[in-house]
Amino acid sequence: MILFKQISQLQQELSLARNGKKSIGFVPTMGALHEGHLSLIAQSKQENDITVCSIFVNPTQFNDPKDFEKYPITTAQDILLAEKAGLDILFMPTVAEMYPNGQQLTQPYELGHIETLLEGVHRPGHFQGVCQVVHHLLNIVQPNGLYMGQKDYQQCMVINKLLEITGLKQSILLKVGPTLREADGLAMSSRNVRLSPEARNQATIIYKTLAAVKEHIKTKEISDLQEEAAQNLLQNGFNKVDYISIADAVTLEPVTKPVSGQQLVVLAAAFINNVRLIDNLIFDFS
Ligand code: PAJ
Repeated sequence: MILFKQISQLQQELSLARNGKKSIGFVPTMGALHEGHLSLIAQSKQENDITVCSIFVNPTQFNDPKDFEKYPITTAQDILLAEKAGLDILFMPTVAEMYPNGQQLTQPYELGHIETLLEGVHRPGHFQGVCQVVHHLLNIVQPNGLYMGQKDYQQCMVINKLLEITGLKQSILLKVGPTLREADGLAMSSRNVRLSPEARNQATIIYKTLAAVKEHIKTKEISDLQEEAAQNLLQNGFNKVDYISIADAVTLEPVTKPVSGQQLVVLAAAFINNVRLIDNLIFDFS
C-alpha cells in the first residue's frame, strides 16, 4: 500500500496507472475505519485493478462544530486496517492541501429537491459540504467506480445528483454497497465509539424499530407506524428523534398510501447519549 498526503504525488501515481489502462475504484471516507468501510474497499478491489481510499475529516460538511471536534481520529489503526484489507493507495490530505484557497464554496451545487428533505432539513449546508469534498476528490482521483454505502442512503442520492449536474456520470459509475451491521443489528458507524456502554446496548433499538416498521407496513397506517417508531426510540434511551420517515425509495418523497410493488425505504435519525445516529431499511411493498 502506498500512502499519499499530497495531491500532486497521488496524481502522478494515478496517471501512470491510467496510462497502463488500469481501472481505478475509489472509496471516500472520513476514517475511523470499520467493517462497513472495508466492505466497500473489498468490493472495489474485486471490480477494479487499483483501489484508492481517502481519509479526510471534511470540516465543510459539519453543521455542528462540536460534532467535528469530537469526530474520532484513529490514524495508526486505519493505516493498519487499510493495509490488511489489501488497499493499493491510501490518500490522507490535510485541510490546507484540500482547501488551499479557503473552505468557502464559490457557487452552491444545484441539488434540487433532494436537498430539501430529511438530512437536508436537519443538517443545513451538510450536503453542500459533502458535494464540495467529493467533487474535489473525484477531480483528483478520476476513478472509474465510486463506492459508497447504503447506510447513508440520502448521501448516495445526493452524490448521484452531483454526478449528473457535473457531467461526471459519463465517466464514473456509482456503486452502492449494503449496510454492514454489528451482531445485534446496529449499523456500523465511526460515531458508535462515542457511545457509552449503556447507550451502545440501547442503540440497537434503532434497527429493531426500523425492522418493526417493515414488518407492520401492510397492517398499519403509515402515520401511526412513524409515530409509534419515534415513541419506541424515545422510550428506549434516545433523547431526540430528528425524523422517522417512510418514503419512496427512488424519490425519497414521504409515502402516505404505498402501492403494490413500490420500493420503500424507512429512514431514521435520532440522538442517544449526544450522538446522532442514522439508519435505514429498504423493502418492497408487496
Ligand atoms: P464516512 O462516514 O466515513 O463513510 C464513508 C463511506 O462508508 C460512505 O459511503 C458510507 O455510506 C459508508 N459506510 C459507513 N458506514 C457503513 C456501513 N455500516 N456499511 C456500509 N457502508 C458504510 O460518508 C462519509 O464518510 C463522508 O460524508 C464522505 C462521503 C467521505 C465525504 O466526506
